Amino acid sequence: MDTGEIIEALNKALAWEMRAIAMYAHYSAYVSGIHRPHLSVYFSNEVTESINHAATVRSAIVKLDGKATTERAPSEIVHTYDYSVMLNEAYGTEKTASQTYEAILPMIEAIGDNELYDALEVIYFDELRSVEELRMMLK
Ligand SMILES: [Fe+2]
Ligand SMILES: [Fe+2]
Repeated sequence: MDTGEIIEALNKALAWEMRAIAMYAHYSAYVSGIHRPHLSVYFSNEVTESINHAATVRSAIVKLDGKATTERAPSEIVHTYDYSVMLNEAYGTEKTASQTYEAILPMIEAIGDNELYDALEVIYFDELRSVEELRMMLK
């Protein structure tokens, strides 16, 4: 397995986490209506989770002697006050995140780094849980 390829995939994940941080912080501030009290907290917790994920991915890139990106993924963050639009955007974001980590895990397995594998698998399961949580919220 080419380390450069792994670093590229990890940078994609890192850029996506940085986009998630910006998106959830934005939605936490703008969410409106009767669901604002709990959704604002929910989005804010997602900011914290994404910051922690980004830190883990950044450390992984450092461990592999790569250069971590400082740019967020360019994919548009939809501006809205409407919580249902926000939840749909969050659902898409979490699905992409889970697919990104799903693709990375076999690469890490191939280089036999168990510590890194474990750290990234924890993130992968966090993303899967978010997908399921949002699926239930959108029902
Ligand atoms: Fe994440
Ligand atoms: Fe997430």
